[in-house]
Amino acid sequence: MTGRKLTIQDGLESMRKELNNYANVVLRPEDLQGPTDFAQVFGRCAPVHIEIGSGKGAFLVTQAQAQPDANFLGIEWASKYYRYVVDRIGRWGLPNVRMLRTDAPIFLRDFVASESVDCFHIYFPDPWPKKRHHKRRFLQASNLAMLIERLKPGGQIRIATDHEDYFLQIQEVTAACLDRLEPIEFERPAGAREGELTGTNYERKYLKESRSIHTVAFQKKRV
Ligand SMILES: C[S@@+](CC[C@H](N)C(=O)[O-])C[C@H]1O[C@@H](n2cnc3c(N)ncnc32)[C@H](O)[C@@H]1O
Repeated sequence: MTGRKLTIQDGLESMRKELNNYANVVLRPEDLQGPTDFAQVFGRCAPVHIEIGSGKGAFLVTQAQAQPDANFLGIEWASKYYRYVVDRIGRWGLPNVRMLRTDAPIFLRDFVASESVDCFHIYFPDPWPKKRHHKRRFLQASNLAMLIERLKPGGQIRIATDHEDYFLQIQEVTAACLDRLEPIEFERPAGAREGELTGTNYERKYLKESRSIHTVAFQKKRV
């Protein structure tokens, strides 16, 4: 023991080491080349679930344990959350989860093949409340078109939000795709406790503030 006081740099260094220790959890953006071969990434063929905006990873941790026969990929842009989730998945030793730090629309556009995903989970996407920022919302027509195209026939999209105006937008953009999407009942993830719809960190925070939570789900029509 040197008795030296720990600094932020020490904390970052130890976090970096943790990420290195959990290299098997990480899908590195620099390793992506064209459409992702999910069987290769996970080392097995299994249904592919992608969560967009994983936050602190509550959904991934509980759902991956509840569905060991499915592969889960979490996409998170914020470095702080991404590192937090990698560490969490690594500690749990979950073999069926990978984390990718990237901008979700770019990953979907450049690195996800047509009809290769079984389910997209989008829980509490950033609402960008100011009107001039609405164009930054993830659930807009162009991104929804990509999600549908990347889904296998019969694949699903599950969405939750607390934000009234964003929910209206989601209803509008999905209503315009009902030739390809069929509304289905929203399936509560395994981590949802009594009184919860998703069990994610943001839902718990919003429930404490007595906000209403809206959910919708769709299945891609088989043609
Ligand atoms: C409001 S939080 C919800 C987190 C989590 N789903 C939950 O319910 O607790 C939205 C998350 O989406 C992430 N995010 C926002 N835009 C993103 C993008 N374009 N690509 C990947 N992640 C994104 C944010 O960094 C944030 O962690």
